[in-house]
Amino acid sequence: MSDAPRSERAPTVSGTASSDRARAAGDRAGRDIGDAQRPVVLATRDVKREYTLGAETVRAVRGITLEVREGDWVSLVGPSGCGKSTMLNLLGAIDRPSAGSVEIRGRDTATLSDKEATLLRLREVGFVFQRFYLMPQLSAFENVELPMAEAKVPAAERKARVMELLSYVGLASRAQHRPSELSGGEQQRVAIARALANRPAFLLADEPTGELDAATGADVIALLARLNADGTTLVIVTHDETLARAGRRVVSLRDGQVVKDEAT
Ligand SMILES: Nc1ncnc2c1ncn2[C@@H]1O[C@H](COP(=O)(O)OP(=O)(O)OP(=O)(O)O)[C@@H](O)[C@H]1O
Ligand SMILES: [Mg+2]
Repeated sequence: MSDAPRSERAPTVSGTASSDRARAAGDRAGRDIGDAQRPVVLATRDVKREYTLGAETVRAVRGITLEVREGDWVSLVGPSGCGKSTMLNLLGAIDRPSAGSVEIRGRDTATLSDKEATLLRLREVGFVFQRFYLMPQLSAFENVELPMAEAKVPAAERKARVMELLSYVGLASRAQHRPSELSGGEQQRVAIARALANRPAFLLADEPTGELDAATGADVIALLARLNADGTTLVIVTHDETLARAGRRVVSLRDGQVVKDEAT
C-alpha cells in the first residue's frame, strides 16, 4: 500500500507535513499506530462556557478536558442541550471559553485577536454543518473555490485543487451545478469538499447527516470514513447512531460534562 503510485492514492485532503508522516507511519503499522506517536491537534483543559441572559446564567459547557490526536475520529454524542454545538464552536475557535483553555495545534484560542482567529479558522479548521450552507448563487466549483480565494491561493492552483476535491467526493460531473440543482447528499459532499479546500488540520461537523435520508446519509458516512482512512482528523456531533458508531471513539456529554469516553 505504501508503494502505491501517488495517483491511486487519495489527494492530500488535509495534508500537513506531519499528517503525511503520520499517514506513512500508519501505513507501515497497519494504521493503528500508538497514541504517543500522533501529534495532538486539539486539546481542551477544564473548558467552560457560560451564557448570561439577564439574571440567568446557562452553564452550557462545565469543565471539559479532551485531547484529539491526528487521525482520530471522535463522535460527540448526548441529549439535546447537553453542550455539543457549544463545544464544537469552542474547538473551531468560532467561540472562546469563559474559563479553561482550548488549544488548536498548540495555540491557545483565547490569546488570538479576532483577525488571527479568522485566519486560523480559514487555514486550520474545516466546518461542515447540518444545513450545508452553500452559497446558492454559486456553482459547486465556485463554492469549493471560495475559501481558497479568501486564503489568496493563486487561481491556477485553486482550479486544480477544486477539481481534485470534487473528484474525491465523486462530483466532478456536477461542478457547474448550483446547490438547488444538487440533491441533499450531493450538497453535503460539496460542503465537505469546501471544508477541505485549505487542507485543514481537522474537520468539525455538526449533524452532517441530520437533513439526509438513510441512504444518502450512508454516502456521506462512507465519504467521512474514506477521509479518516486517508488521515483526516474528524470530530463529529451526531444523533445518528450509524454515524456515531462509524467513528473510532465516542465521547458522551451530559449537562456540559463528559460522562463517557470510549473506543468503538
Ligand atoms: N447563544 C446562547 N445563549 C444562551 N444560551 C445558549 C446559547 N447557545 C446555547 N445555549 C444553551 O446552552 C445549552 C447547550 O446548547 P448547545 O447548542 O450546545 O446544545 P446541543 O447539545 O448542541 O443540543 P442539540 O442536540 O439540540 O443541538 C442549551 O441549554 C442552550 O439552551
Ligand atoms: Mg447542537
